[in-house]
Amino acid sequence: IKVTSAQFVTSAVKAADYPAGELPEVALAGRSNVGKSSLLNRLMNRRGLARTSNTPGRTRLINFFLVNGLFHLVDLPGYGYAKVPASERESWRKMVEGYLTTRKTLKGVVLLVDSRHQPSALDLQMYGWLKHRGIPAVVAATKADKLPRMRLLQSVKVIRATLSLTEGDRLIPFSAETGLGREDLLEVIAGWVNG
Ligand code: GTP
Ligand code: MG
Repeated sequence: IKVTSAQFVTSAVKAADYPAGELPEVALAGRSNVGKSSLLNRLMNRRGLARTSNTPGRTRLINFFLVNGLFHLVDLPGYGYAKVPASERESWRKMVEGYLTTRKTLKGVVLLVDSRHQPSALDLQMYGWLKHRGIPAVVAATKADKLPRMRLLQSVKVIRATLSLTEGDRLIPFSAETGLGREDLLEVIAGWVNG
């Protein structure tokens, strides 16, 4: 698909704040600082649409974006950032869990993992949980530009093995810097929102 328009819609904490209507939705999940907001900006080719930062915990609310007037992309707050107080981690967990369990229009989730690291226990938990709930998921291995080609290939294998991906499960190496993986990921998203 060709992205012709992308705009911020609203931020939400709880279900009452989510946009009304029946538009299909795709959410971006992953640990803090993994590159969710950067991936969204690259997909849309719009620098600065979603706020990004070197400091983990930048995105603290559920942010909804409207794409081509046809579907929502949802930037979720990241999990697993140790430096925030337990109370705040708990409120983020509730926010994300609440969204993923109640959102009727959710068609699929892009789970982001860092291509340089083995997925964490929380990544495993999230992927397993999505599978268990029957929510379609694709894994994006972010910051692929930071690895030489051979290391990236090795890393992809490690990630596939750690998350127990099977042949039909997709893993897309992605770089917000170079645009690697952008077309493939847009294709997966288009399949979800059109199906
Ligand atoms: P939270 O909102 O805190 O959960 O983080 P996030 O997952 O939205 O991460 P964000 O997009 O803000 O990116 C975190 C940092 O990683 C920023 O400094 C980005 O510039 C950097 N980054 C993200 N994607 C890439 C990438 O593909 N390549 C490189 N080199 N840096 C990236
Ligand atoms: Mg963010």
